[in-house]
Amino acid sequence: MERIKTVRSDEIILVEDAAELALQGAEIFREEACYYTELQGEFICALSGGNTPRGMHRRLAGEPYRSVCPWEMTHLFWVDERCLPTGDPRSNFGAARKDLIDRVPLPGANVHPMPTHAAPPAAAAWYEGKLMQFFRKVPPREPIFDLVFLGIGSDGHTASLFPQAIPAAASYKWVVDVKGGEPDVFRLTLCPWVLNRSRHVCFLVSGSLKAAVAKRVLEDSEEALPAAQIQPAGGRLTWILDRPAAEKLDL
Ligand code: 6PG
Repeated sequence: MERIKTVRSDEIILVEDAAELALQGAEIFREEACYYTELQGEFICALSGGNTPRGMHRRLAGEPYRSVCPWEMTHLFWVDERCLPTGDPRSNFGAARKDLIDRVPLPGANVHPMPTHAAPPAAAAWYEGKLMQFFRKVPPREPIFDLVFLGIGSDGHTASLFPQAIPAAASYKWVVDVKGGEPDVFRLTLCPWVLNRSRHVCFLVSGSLKAAVAKRVLEDSEEALPAAQIQPAGGRLTWILDRPAAEKLDL
């Protein structure tokens, strides 16, 4: 594992393979969870879907993370969700429930999945209301996640923010509904400005299929790509890449 700095991010952590990426991500989760529960009595984290984070979720469900992470003070939200039944194998929450949630002592009230049974616009409004209720308890009464895990698609999307398809409402709404991606279904997603309010954003990028887009974001600085727009103003930005994903970077 090497820590490298680039202009586009606070740090790039280069790891050998997907297994080490999962371990590194779990370490960051543990570190931040212990820090924030010590500091503020709770740890507020948002997870992404897709395949990349699943290895990390399974890591966190195993030792030592199952024992050392302060699960009882941890709140899990989602960055985005496909509007599919949670039993559908493509459901982000469904996968996280299988890999992590059902295997750690996380109180049910601390698990905040996006609703997928209502019509997408209503579901987006409902989750936005839930976030407002959760974050408006204390100043600054804004959605400030302690840690957000993001992935990136080969087209440069992140969360369910797709190139040329970020809704205009995403500049002031907390959650919007969109349609697209793979699978091409209705989705709910946190908006870019919410992600950029986070204290720490960590991208997990694995595999040679992501090498070209990693270069476009981290070296070519293609600002238009949704993933390139994630630059937490007052927060930390970490990219963890395995060697295949980093193969086009001049590191
Ligand atoms: C989703 C994800 C999405 C994902 C990327 C990468 O719901 O699709 O949140 O943004 O992070 O598409 O997906 P993989 O990890 O499967 O490559």
